[in-house]
Formats: sequence, C-alpha cells, structure tokens
Amino acid sequence: MSTEENEIFAHAMSMVNCFSLPTVFTTAMELNVFKIINELSKDDGGGGGASPLEISSRLQTENPEAASMVDRMLHLLANYSLLTCSVRTSEGGLVERVYGIGPVSKFFLTEQDGGSLAYLSFLNSHAAHAKARSSLKDAVLEGGVPFEKAHADIDPRFSSIFNKAMASHSIIILKKILETYKGFEGLNSLVDVGGGDGSTLNMIINKYPSIRGINYDLPHVIQHLLPSLGIENIEGNMFEAVPKGDAVLLKFFSSKKRCGASMAGSELFQKWSNFRDSPTFLSTSVLYEEICGSWATLLKLIELQSICHNWNDEQCVTLLKNCYKALPETGKVIIIDPLMPEAAETNFTGKLVAELDITMLISLGGRERTEREFAALSKAAGFSCLKVVSCVYAHSILDVHK
Ligand SMILES: C[S@@+](CC[C@H](N)C(=O)[O-])C[C@H]1O[C@@H](n2cnc3c(N)ncnc32)[C@H](O)[C@@H]1O
Repeated sequence: MSTEENEIFAHAMSMVNCFSLPTVFTTAMELNVFKIINELSKDDGGGGGASPLEISSRLQTENPEAASMVDRMLHLLANYSLLTCSVRTSEGGLVERVYGIGPVSKFFLTEQDGGSLAYLSFLNSHAAHAKARSSLKDAVLEGGVPFEKAHADIDPRFSSIFNKAMASHSIIILKKILETYKGFEGLNSLVDVGGGDGSTLNMIINKYPSIRGINYDLPHVIQHLLPSLGIENIEGNMFEAVPKGDAVLLKFFSSKKRCGASMAGSELFQKWSNFRDSPTFLSTSVLYEEICGSWATLLKLIELQSICHNWNDEQCVTLLKNCYKALPETGKVIIIDPLMPEAAETNFTGKLVAELDITMLISLGGRERTEREFAALSKAAGFSCLKVVSCVYAHSILDVHK
C-alpha cells in the first residue's frame, strides 16, 4: 500500500478519534500540567524540561499509574506541537520522555498581565457548551441557536468563566495590536462600543494618554464599573445610538447574553431577550442627543472589536449606521474580528476561523465574515471605504471610513 493511501486512511481514522485531543488537552489544563512543566523547567535552569514522574509528583494523587497516564497524554499533545518532547537516558539507564513548554503552550500559561488562553479553554469545555454542541443537529433541522435550545437558564458560574475567558484572551490580542497597529495615533477620542469593564480602553490609553476614552455598554454593565482615569463610562444600547467620537472600536463584539452574564436568568435578562426578539428591535433608532451632544467636540472616532461576529447582518448594519451618525467626516470605525477566507484554507489560521464560525453558530447564532461581506455591511450603513489594515493572531483590523 502506498504512503499516500496509508495517510488518507490515517486522516479518516483520526477524524473518528478526534475527541482524544480535546479530552486530553482539557484534562491537562484542569491538572495545571502546563504550569507545572513551566515551573519544573525553570527549576531545571530552563534546559531539560520535565519528566512524567516529576510532573505527576506535583499532582495531588497517590495513583501509581499517574505518571504513565500523564506521559501518554503529553505524548499526544507533543504530537500536535502543543509541547516539546525529547528522550533522555538517566545514569541508571532509565529511558524517559521529557516535556517542555514550546511556542504554542506558552499561550496556555497565565502571564503577569493576565493574558492567557487558559480561561477560553475552560469556557469551551464547560458542560454548558458541551450541551449546546449536542443541540446543533436539532438547530439545523428546526432552526434556532443551539446554546439557547439547550439552556433555558444559565449556570451563574458560567458567567464568571465567560468574563474571565474573554478578558484574558483579549489581553493577548490587544497587546500585539498595540505593537503593530498605528491607527490610534492622533485620535482625540475613542468610543469602545461594548467595551465591557473598560480594560481594552485602559490598555489603549496607557499607550496613548492623550486619547479621551468612552466606554459604552449596557446599563447593567456600566453601573458596576469604578471610575477610571481618562475614561468616561456611558450606558446605552448600541442598536439605538452610539456616543460621538473620533473613532469607534468594535472589538470582540460579544454575546447577547453570555457577556451580560450577570443578568442571565434575571428579570432584566428576560426583558432584554424579549426586546431583542421584538419586531421593534431593529427599527428602533433613537439618538441619545443628551449623551452624544456633550461629547461632540471631544470625540471623532469609534471602535468596534469582534463586535460584529455575534450579530446577524441586519443587526450589524443597524449598529454600523449608528456608528456612522456618531462620527465626523474624517472619523472611522475600527473593527477587530477574525476574517473568514473566501475559500477553505488548510493552515491553522484558516482552520481556526472556520472553527470560530461554528462556535458562533452554536453559542450565539452569530458568524464570522469575509472581507467582501464586511465591505457589503459597511456600504449598506453608508460608509464608502473599508481597508484591512493588518492581521494579529488571526484577528484582522479593519478601518472603515465615511
Ligand atoms: C465580549 S463582551 C466585551 C467585549 C470587549 N469589547 C472586549 O474586547 O473584551 C461584549 C460586550 O458587548 C456588550 N453589549 C451587548 N449588547 C450591547 C448593546 N446592545 N449595547 C451596548 N453594549 C452591548 C456586552 O454587555 C459586553 O460587555
């Protein structure tokens, strides 16, 4: 049999066994294995890495099989380049594998500034998401959003996992954006639409202290925020109006309900859900003059980060129209969202965007979009020009001008 035939069969079989990888990865995260390996490697002077026996000795277990089980798990992760792996022979002739932190696994550690993909992994492996995934078939046949079909109510603990996951993932991306993207230079003001706890604006303003930040979010989010230097917290509904600014940021534009996690199951959440589903939702466009007016001279820009991928096309156009009204002639919307390639791409970035698209389909009923689709939404909202400025960790930065 040819090598090609063998590989094709192995590819098919690996689909059948594809659950092994997420199972092992999630378990390694739960056992804190990446952190343990990192610490052991540092103790070792950063050279050799850690053996399964050394790793399992740091787990709270008496199981004599633990080292062997850890070894088999880490071997699989190393096969996917999630860890480095080498073989060493001790003086006594014992041959063993040693595992180290590689360029990929460093994202699963928690940096001092809180940046990490670890929490996103906990979020995606949460039972609430597992249950939602099992509703995908019903959603295809019957319509609806799988997450909503699977959950009449949301576990309150899921909310804090969600918020932590968003924030720690966002730090990694924003740090890199601030290193490479120059579009914040020269702005007097920046509106972060759906800015959540304001940490994105805080990082931007740390680098550009002359920018006046406006953190715009739903009332239940804004009401819990403490004042922050250089940032004005404004509450409102972006589908009704957006405060005026030099630029508007739409970044990781998040979920209808998971972000407003604290309101899940509450009366407010019910009201919001009813409003969201009502026919007046999309047609409502009340400009909050009392909010916008006072900012008119200070603000010319508004920013939108991964905001769009949670919403359908009509909702995105409504939001972009509100951004248009909030901007001066020279203003821009900055969209930070993954860009879907037109044709399938087999590299990791292409696979990631396709996987994120399914995550959005299952959990929010949102979608990832191509550049062409973003351009069409912007045009429908009145903008004349959309430019892909750069791509950072699979997230594209799009500048949208009037
Ligand atoms: C993923 S979270 C925060 C995203 C944040 N931009 C970031 O990058 O980390 C999305 C935010 O959008 C807010 N949001 C959802 N619907 C909104 C609406 N209609 N008007 C204003 N903010 C909204 C949520 O409350 C939430 O804080």
